[in-house]
Amino acid sequence: MRIAFFDSGVGGLTVLREALKLLPRENYIYYADALNAPYGTKSKDEVRLIVKKAVEFLNARGIKALVVACNTATSIAIDDLRASFKFPVIGMEPAVKPAVEKNNGHGKRVLVVATPLTLREEKFHNLVSRVDTQHIVDYLPMPELVLFAEKMIFDGEEVSDYIREQLSAFDLKNYGTLVLGCTHFPYFRKVFESIIPPGMDIIDGNYSTVRHMKNVLENNGLLDGKGCGDIEFFVSSRPADEETVRKFKKLLETN
Ligand code: DGL
Repeated sequence: MRIAFFDSGVGGLTVLREALKLLPRENYIYYADALNAPYGTKSKDEVRLIVKKAVEFLNARGIKALVVACNTATSIAIDDLRASFKFPVIGMEPAVKPAVEKNNGHGKRVLVVATPLTLREEKFHNLVSRVDTQHIVDYLPMPELVLFAEKMIFDGEEVSDYIREQLSAFDLKNYGTLVLGCTHFPYFRKVFESIIPPGMDIIDGNYSTVRHMKNVLENNGLLDGKGCGDIEFFVSSRPADEETVRKFKKLLETN
């Protein structure tokens, strides 16, 4: 059986890419809920419903584990999914903990960028209260980046103007780390790098998520190592058309 990766669109490919490197001998399903993207500006109830529907589709196909490669869907639906399905469900959260550990005691702050819904959710605020003992974490919603990514626009003036304008609310020389708390955002890493001051680093939670996925699979005896990195692509409960498959594969290779 395959490991399924799920996101509202192209964002989860940035996580699947890491999984392919770590576990190349597994087979995968990638499910992009593009007809319902973006999630980050929807209501909680709406997201809970559409995520459940998508995962029911995956469950009916038969999968051995699910990676919710979307911070927004994780914050809304992970508990419900774990209670509803038998396979292991691996979620994501913004990498606030490593960012805080790195900057605590160094006089620098941490800036988390994510979708409005992720940043509004209790899960995020609980995470921050748990790890941010010195109150160095700030956050900023950047919903437009999801729209740019879905349109395959990853650089250019429009993107850099948006990022620059949003970040201008913060005096970045006081910040040590930028946390990409949305799986669509690693596509813009180069643009972020060209805007933030030298010395400020950028982290995302992708690698730690797939490392965790590997442990979960191992602990459940679900790693068979007989696959070859084959991926079946779906878009909102339909097999992806050829052009979309080509686009997704290109994103997996280039980003
Ligand atoms: N990629 C998703 C995340 O990590 C959300 C994007 C969206 O649909 O708003 O939060």
